[in-house]
Amino acid sequence: MTYVVTDACIRCKYMDCVEVCPVDCFYEGENMLVIHPDECIDCGVCEPECPADAIKADTEPGLEKWLKLNKDFAVTWPNITIKRDPPPDAKDFDGVAGKFEAHFSAKPGKGD
Ligand code: SF4
Ligand code: F3S
Repeated sequence: MTYVVTDACIRCKYMDCVEVCPVDCFYEGENMLVIHPDECIDCGVCEPECPADAIKADTEPGLEKWLKLNKDFAVTWPNITIKRDPPPDAKDFDGVAGKFEAHFSAKPGKGD
């Protein structure tokens, strides 16, 4: 199993998660992060750290789409291990529905 980042991360991108991951397996897109499923050691430490509740264990039902998205973009986006300031309007997007359709971006983020 692995943990996956879901749509709740989009445009919130709080980055609390990257600071606690013992194997540095987060990768940064323009509007969200993903977890590399082959690098994640399933420690679960990041899950409660996300203020947006965006990180889920892939044992939860209905996460196939997100597992694929995490896997695909973890190999093209840059690694991120250091928390930066979240977007200034992050709170406006916290808990908003339909963020993938409205705001997902395949563009890479800055990384470390
Ligand atoms: Fe990193 Fe552990 Fe979260 Fe996997 S579950 S991404 S290893 S902190
Ligand atoms: Fe995203 Fe939550 Fe990390 S909003 S950047 S998964 S702390």
